[in-house]
Amino acid sequence: MMDYSKVLLFVSLTYQYKADNIFYSFNDSEVIMKIAIGCDHAGVAMKNEIAPVLKELGVEGEDYGTTTEESVDYPDFGEKVAELVSGGKVDRGILICGTGIGMSIVANKFPNVRAALCSESFSAQMSRLHNDANLLVLPGRVINGTTAADIVRIWFTTPFEGGRHQKRLDKIKAIEARLICK
Ligand code: RB5
Repeated sequence: MMDYSKVLLFVSLTYQYKADNIFYSFNDSEVIMKIAIGCDHAGVAMKNEIAPVLKELGVEGEDYGTTTEESVDYPDFGEKVAELVSGGKVDRGILICGTGIGMSIVANKFPNVRAALCSESFSAQMSRLHNDANLLVLPGRVINGTTAADIVRIWFTTPFEGGRHQKRLDKIKAIEARLICK
C-alpha cells in the first residue's frame, strides 16, 4: 500500500500567485486517504470537533456513528470501524469513547489492527513512527478539542519508520497467526 504519510505533507497548502496585479489564492486540498470513524455517545462532540481537521488534511472520513448523545454501547461502533481497517477496506480508522479504553480493547481484537490510544502528541507521533498504528483512539472525556486536533494532525502526517520496528510488527503478525489458528 502507498505510504500516504509522505504525500500528506504536500496537501492542504494554500497557493498564491499574482496576475494582473491581483493575488489569486486557492486551496489544493484533495482526498488522499479514506478512513472510517466511529464513536459512542461520549465521543460525539470530539468527532465533530476533529472533522474540519480531517478535511484540512485531505482525509475523507466515513462516519459509522453514533451521532447523538443518547447512551449506546461502544463495542457496536468499535466493531464496525475495526472490521473495515482489519479487512483493508479503508486506509485507517478513528474511534472515540469516554476514556478511549473500551474502544482500544475492541479494536485490538481484530487482526491487522494496531490501535493506539493517544492523549498527547508525542504518543501519537511514536505510534506512527514505531508501531505503524492504523487506528487512532481518542479519549473524548479526557482531552480537549485542541489537543485532539494536534494529535490528529501529527498522527496523519507522521510516517512509519520501518527498519527494526518492522521486525517487531512481524512478530505481532506471527502472534496473530498463531492465535487465529487455534
Ligand atoms: C461510556 O459511559 C463509557 O464507559 C465509554 O465511553 C468508554 O469510556 C469506555 O471505555
